[in-house]
Amino acid sequence: MRVFVTGASGWIGAAAVRELRRAGHQVVGLARSDAAAAAVAALGAEVHRGDLDDLDGLSAGAADSDGVVHLAYHHDFTQMAAAARMDLAAIEAIGRVLEGTGRPLVIASGVAGLAPGRVATERDDADPAAHPRIANAAATLALADRGVRPVVVRFAPTVHGAGDHGFVARLVDIAREKGVSAHVGDGSNRWPAVHRHDAGALVRLAVEQAPAGSVLHAVAEEGVPARAIAEAIGRGLDLPVAAVPAEQAAAHFGWLGGFFALDCPASNVQTRAQLGWEPTGPGLLEDLGEGHYFRTSTAA
Ligand SMILES: NC(=O)c1ccc[n+]([C@@H]2O[C@H](COP(=O)([O-])OP(=O)(O)OC[C@H]3O[C@@H](n4cnc5c(N)ncnc54)[C@H](OP(=O)(O)O)[C@@H]3O)[C@@H](O)[C@H]2O)c1
Repeated sequence: MRVFVTGASGWIGAAAVRELRRAGHQVVGLARSDAAAAAVAALGAEVHRGDLDDLDGLSAGAADSDGVVHLAYHHDFTQMAAAARMDLAAIEAIGRVLEGTGRPLVIASGVAGLAPGRVATERDDADPAAHPRIANAAATLALADRGVRPVVVRFAPTVHGAGDHGFVARLVDIAREKGVSAHVGDGSNRWPAVHRHDAGALVRLAVEQAPAGSVLHAVAEEGVPARAIAEAIGRGLDLPVAAVPAEQAAAHFGWLGGFFALDCPASNVQTRAQLGWEPTGPGLLEDLGEGHYFRTSTAA
């Protein structure tokens, strides 16, 4: 297949491109800068220059493909509604091009907030009131009625590995800054996790074979207790571990406080059965034990 990938220069995108290339697919990666273009080219992909808000450019990329993986996202926590609108406009533009072709459109979503108090499954619907982006997944799935093969991949809140700059890397930075590795409350709340390479492999399987309307969980570990994450970070930095009361989470962790307090275990049973996806890890705590999160410079 010839696959157009937005976000190809990103953390998950680069892993997905490597995986697609390894399986023999041609990849065209969206790049908005010289640095992103160089990163995409280094992965062995063609470069399609453009920005997410250039809908004509996105449409051209989609038209010249056998399928689209849409992973680019404007991660600005101060402009969440605007970022979600930009994302929806991109999905709609790509959807119009793929209409009636049966070609895949794979987009990214998350598992947080799906099923408070229990393990979320692929069948659980997210509450659109919870985040302005959630409606975009439903809009994507609705493209099945217009002859597209839409697939939503819900990623665990930590897609980890060497070179990670996401939530766990930020927790490490906060522990360094504060001189203590903290969890919220008793730390029994759980975060699902998946290694970057396993996430890339699932994206490839999604493009190749997931049926229209599939919701997949890029989750290798159902839920790692926050306390265990804080302890692993404490060991890695040789810092004490402490509990921060819920009402002080925002003061201690900043914007990450709300996320790190979430209990959002998620299952992968249906995803594995449907696609034969078998994550091989390493798991999050093992990955933290490798030490690369604690070096000042990490390599992908
Ligand atoms: N990582 C996780 O743990 C996680 C968990 C749940 C969901 N997700 C979702 O999975 C997707 C991929 O995440 P990620 O961790 O790979 O993100 P990332 O590393 O931050 O990469 C984001 C990608 O989007 C591109 N991008 C951002 N704004 C753009 C714009 N205006 N025009 C064109 N490209 C733009 C970036 O390009 P540049 O290289 O030019 O910056 C980069 O390639 C996102 O939708 C994310 O929300 C991730």
